Amino acid sequence: MLSTVRIGMVGAGAVAARHLRTLLAMDGVEVAAVADPALERAKELAAEAGAAVYPNHMELLEAERLDAVYICVPPFAHGAPELAVIDAGLPMFVEKPVAIDQETAAAIAARLAGRSLVTCTGYHWRWLDIFDRAAALLADRPARLVQCWWLDKVPPPPWWLRRDGSGGQTIEQTTHVLDAARGLAGDVTEAHAFGAGAATADDIHDVSVASLRFASGAVGTVASTCLLPRLHRAGVQVVADGLSLELSETELVVEVDGRRDGWTADGDARPRPDRDFVAAVRGDEDRIRVPWPEAYRTHLLACAITRSADEGRPVPVPEGSGEPQGGAPVDRGRTDG
Ligand SMILES: NC(=O)c1ccc[n+]([C@@H]2O[C@H](COP(=O)([O-])OP(=O)(O)OC[C@H]3O[C@@H](n4cnc5c(N)ncnc54)[C@H](O)[C@@H]3O)[C@@H](O)[C@H]2O)c1
Repeated sequence: MLSTVRIGMVGAGAVAARHLRTLLAMDGVEVAAVADPALERAKELAAEAGAAVYPNHMELLEAERLDAVYICVPPFAHGAPELAVIDAGLPMFVEKPVAIDQETAAAIAARLAGRSLVTCTGYHWRWLDIFDRAAALLADRPARLVQCWWLDKVPPPPWWLRRDGSGGQTIEQTTHVLDAARGLAGDVTEAHAFGAGAATADDIHDVSVASLRFASGAVGTVASTCLLPRLHRAGVQVVADGLSLELSETELVVEVDGRRDGWTADGDARPRPDRDFVAAVRGDEDRIRVPWPEAYRTHLLACAITRSADEGRPVPVPEGSGEPQGGAPVDRGRTDG
């Protein structure tokens, strides 16, 4: 059992600041170092913790004796930090999405395979009490129809609107509800998507839709846009036999057998992954709900939707369990409805 958990942060932006403040409020946690090529940002954040500052993850890993590393970089910067942290044998907390594309994520998955490292990701919707309630309701009435939506504004980071910065809205943002949908209805095997609004190959789609086929036989849809002045709607609706439930980050509305009920989330779920990650690193029970390999499977779904919209054809969603990462066209010779 570790009495003090020494943590290094890679990335010193908005989400790193949130994690750092959550960590500093815990007993027995020290944020020892912060690395960011934007040194002024790194210094400012490190000052809150009395931490050392480094320009990159390599120098941080070389100089510090750490128990765990947080990787809070934009989508385009994933890959090298994870590989180095895995090689160092350290537990890692990785912010979503786990990469900008499928290839980078697959390389991390391959390096992680067979290692028993503690990992956790920022897919905090799965830590909501109302997520648990929704999952319990579906235990004996399996999901048949799943509708996901993320209708929002363009977030502030300058990298967000570029394809080579964020990977696009589905990969960067809608991924939260895709993860919740997977948690409630299981894996998706096939996606067929359409997107619009990208004037150049570097742009992201500002509107997109997708149809999904789940392994269970359920079917689903996803709608995303960043055209609005503020967050309008982000959530998942699941229909099962005689039941409809609608989950957002704050509320669950359920209609079952003609009766309607609502619940408000019991609080902000965002600090809960930090709590469970630190506990697992310390040697307590591992209660992490979305470790890296599970987040990888959500990312593969987001990548398949994005690729389908780009290529104008249905694409299979890889399982993320080591099989070839292809994306061959789906055989449309026979359909089963
Ligand atoms: N779980 C959530 O709800 C949640 C909320 C906000 C952001 N995020 C995710 O966190 C990630 C970061 O978002 P943000 O809002 O903090 O972005 P940001 O732009 O505010 O900060 C990113 C920081 O990473 C730094 N950086 C870039 N490349 C780096 C590298 N190779 N090594 C170290 N640092 C590097 C940048 O200089 C910048 O300071 C995004 O992927 C975003 O989706 C998740």
